[in-house]
Amino acid sequence: MENKRCKMLPTILLVILHILPSMFSSSQATTKSAIHSSNSDAIEKEESNLETYIVLLQKPEGNDFSKSKDLYSWYQSFLPENAFSSNQPRLIHSYRHVATGFAAKLTAGEVKAMAAKKGFVSARPRRLVPLHTTHSPSFLGLQQNIGLWNSSNYGKGVIVGLIDSGITPDHPSFSGKGMPPPPAKWKGKCELNGTSCNNKLIGARNFATDSNNTLDEYQHGTHTAGTAAGSPVQGANYFGQANGTAIGMAPLAHLAMYKVSGRAGNAGDSEILAAMDAAVEDGVDVLSLSLGIGSHPFYDDVIALGAYAAIQKGIFVSCSAGNSGPDNSSLSNEAPWILTVGASTIDRAIRATVLLGNNTELNGESLYQPEDFPSTLLPLVYAGANGNPSSAYCGTGSLANVDVKGRIVLCEGGYGALEKGQEVKRNGGIAMILMNEESDGFVTTADLQVLPASHVSYMAGLAIKAYIESTSSPMATILFKGTVTGLPEAPQVAEFSSRGPSFASPGILKPDIIGPGVRILAAWPVSEDNTTNKFAMISGTSMSCPHLSGIAALLKNAHPDWSPAAIKSAIMTTANLVDHGGNPISDEQFVTATIFDIGAGHVNPSRANDPGLIYDIQPDDYIPYLCGLGYSDKQVGLIVQHGVNCSNDSSIPEAQLNYPSFSIRLGSTPQTYTRTVTNVGQPNSAYTPQVFAPEGVNVKVTPDKINFSGMNQKATYSVTFSKNGYNYGAPFAQGYLNWVADGYIVRIPIAVIFE
Ligand SMILES: *[C@@H]1O[C@H](CO)[C@@H](O)[C@H](O)[C@H]1NC(C)=O
Ligand SMILES: *[C@@H]1O[C@H](CO)[C@@H](O)[C@H](O)[C@H]1NC(C)=O
Ligand SMILES: *[C@@H]1O[C@H](CO)[C@@H](O)[C@H](O)[C@H]1NC(C)=O
Ligand SMILES: *[C@@H]1O[C@H](CO)[C@@H](O)[C@H](O)[C@H]1NC(C)=O
Ligand SMILES: *[C@@H]1O[C@H](CO)[C@@H](O)[C@H](O)[C@H]1NC(C)=O
Ligand SMILES: *[C@@H]1O[C@H](CO)[C@@H](O)[C@H](O)[C@H]1NC(C)=O
Ligand SMILES: *[C@@H]1O[C@H](CO)[C@@H](O)[C@H](O)[C@H]1NC(C)=O
Ligand SMILES: *[C@@H]1O[C@H](CO)[C@@H](O)[C@H](O)[C@H]1NC(C)=O
Ligand SMILES: *[C@@H]1O[C@H](CO)[C@@H](O)[C@H](O)[C@H]1NC(C)=O
Ligand SMILES: *[C@@H]1O[C@H](CO)[C@@H](O)[C@H](O)[C@H]1NC(C)=O
Repeated sequence: MENKRCKMLPTILLVILHILPSMFSSSQATTKSAIHSSNSDAIEKEESNLETYIVLLQKPEGNDFSKSKDLYSWYQSFLPENAFSSNQPRLIHSYRHVATGFAAKLTAGEVKAMAAKKGFVSARPRRLVPLHTTHSPSFLGLQQNIGLWNSSNYGKGVIVGLIDSGITPDHPSFSGKGMPPPPAKWKGKCELNGTSCNNKLIGARNFATDSNNTLDEYQHGTHTAGTAAGSPVQGANYFGQANGTAIGMAPLAHLAMYKVSGRAGNAGDSEILAAMDAAVEDGVDVLSLSLGIGSHPFYDDVIALGAYAAIQKGIFVSCSAGNSGPDNSSLSNEAPWILTVGASTIDRAIRATVLLGNNTELNGESLYQPEDFPSTLLPLVYAGANGNPSSAYCGTGSLANVDVKGRIVLCEGGYGALEKGQEVKRNGGIAMILMNEESDGFVTTADLQVLPASHVSYMAGLAIKAYIESTSSPMATILFKGTVTGLPEAPQVAEFSSRGPSFASPGILKPDIIGPGVRILAAWPVSEDNTTNKFAMISGTSMSCPHLSGIAALLKNAHPDWSPAAIKSAIMTTANLVDHGGNPISDEQFVTATIFDIGAGHVNPSRANDPGLIYDIQPDDYIPYLCGLGYSDKQVGLIVQHGVNCSNDSSIPEAQLNYPSFSIRLGSTPQTYTRTVTNVGQPNSAYTPQVFAPEGVNVKVTPDKINFSGMNQKATYSVTFSKNGYNYGAPFAQGYLNWVADGYIVRIPIAVIFE
């Protein structure tokens, strides 16, 4: 019965919220002129001021409302009694698992009245949360390649739930062919219209307020779902490039889509919480959220609330770090029970190399790869040679008086490639070289072009300019090399990938990890190139998050007994710090990345499968940590959903949480913390610490040896950090602490900000 009602809610809600915006805007004008009007006008006026509020409560001592009917009536008791003239229901979502509370349509006045009731803790209007894509179909990349994955695993039996923009059920990436049926515990639903679910796509539900169905209208959920657990599809490509087999990280895992966004590309957080509530109830094993809203205290962040309830049930939660880089402290989804995933490049490019008359080659990119472009040299001209800045940027109409006819034209500014190309072509130019501005450095994109073109870095652009000035008859051509792989500088941190330190909890190092998020080829609702091929390449931490969700599904299959924190520890302590060329991972400017950019490093799935030791955390361990953040008993209670007395439960500094990293602020007083490791490697093993101390910091570890004589044995060690006076005024330093045994290096990063 209860389920039926809940199932109906989304549909009801959609109708309400679809009407709300127009009512709201028209009413603002009318209510002012009609304050003392008829009763029905007054109600209408009231209704026009309604907003969707998230109301969070504290259950009365000794009543856990085990019957959901009782919980529902208790929630109802907070709502105003007067009904709307339109018969709209007030209650939109009643949360059962992820939060104690509900979402309802209320006026500010009603919320004020409600605040006096026993059990009320907080209420605020819902927020809109954007999805985390840099929506750029111009990015090109590679098909997912499962590489070192264990072929008897593939995520079999694991259910990955995505909170996203819907799904394209008939896409070959979501074919049920060769898929085993879902595990018996699965309770999810399939609200597809006209299509049925299959053994790959086992659930689809809609929570979006700007949509009536579960289809993907924003082209985001299809891509993320395909990346996490898409079935293999041969001959997948994007405009012919990166042709190969597209395959998700966990190709035998099941998928469940919880749609929270329609065409708008953003979602109400009241709906995100409802979707997480449903996913937890349905029985997903991994939750993947490629969306976020910047930093908020965890008790006021629905994704943190939902994720806490999820990890209590053993569900792993992977979230995008955000696309607000490269600014510092630009992260979303910072809670320590979430895996926060930044984005990095993969080792492919769609190459268009500029060959200069003096025989120098400079690599650039283009999605348009004409096969018949001559490799003979052509005259080369700088668009800004006339001294006119507008011409230099090849703005529309700016090349009318520049002699570009029959030439290759160098334009400034890496953006607006299509319009610039049109201007060059209109004026008779044969080809275009687009150079970045200084701030964009080395970040180039493979764009669709109307003429042969190459997008080159700022540095390459400077060299081309210098060459043009060095000779009276500059010549060049573009060599179209198509898809190339094996770039040694990959993985490189994406410019847009959000950076630490964490704002909500600076004592926890974030992001946790980076993974592929640039030019990712995956399923797409439509064909962009008018073929039967429905794949696209896009970039964002939205793309890196589902990679890690799929990898978590593989680890869940291999280690069903590992907690979410254990899986996360395995991923973090085994990550790579060097690129494919063997150099330290760099950022988009080819500057060595810091651990505030990459966290523990770049994910290495096969090493994560056998980490040796894990840093485990039980859900209750977060309570003293949350108390230590200075949250009130009630605020902590909102997260853990039971009464908390911080003085009983004591509190710990953030750095004392058993997290597989350190992020500390260090003054003149030494600081000591402990960590507990669990042996999941060889039963008999002896570990010794190996310290790469941050510059200016002494790191003392005791004991200096840990011996294990069995599996799942635990050992506790302590670390003392103290300043040694050699930090030379640097604001920040980083290092690592490894525990090393035969066949294992268990590494955690250390970030120190000096006070
Ligand atoms: C379901 O599909 C049918 C046929 O395509 C369409 O007429 C109907 O409006 C759809 N219903 C919903 C709720 O999307
Ligand atoms: C949902 O469906 C109803 C009834 O078919 C329609 O009136 C409404 O406009 C639809 N809403 C959206 C967001 O598509
Ligand atoms: C992709 O590769 C397959 C197999 O090698 C080939 O049959 C197909 O023609 C290729 N498609 C494109 C667009 O290059
Ligand atoms: C970000 O933080 C790092 C390390 O503290 C510092 O070197 C850098 O200047 C900061 N960047 C910005 C843009 O604030
Ligand atoms: C070609 O000219 C550019 C710009 O002056 C210069 O950087 C490059 O070294 C030259 N190449 C050769 C082979 O001389
Ligand atoms: C695909 O077809 C549409 C409609 O015919 C056309 O407008 C569009 O330019 C085509 N796109 C490509 C990439 O060819
Ligand atoms: C593959 O993983 C399973 C556990 O998921 C393990 O039992 C098996 O030994 C592994 N096989 C290989 C070849 O590594
Ligand atoms: C805290 O401790 C007091 C006294 O020992 C006890 O009465 C109370 O129930 C405890 N509160 C919680 C939330 O554990
Ligand atoms: C919390 O615990 C302390 C010490 O046990 C006690 O003095 C205090 O009354 C408790 N507070 C609440 C609200 O239960
Ligand atoms: C640990 O084991 C090593 C041999 O593997 C041995 O030399 C050492 O004494 C042991 N240490 C402790 C504390 O048991």
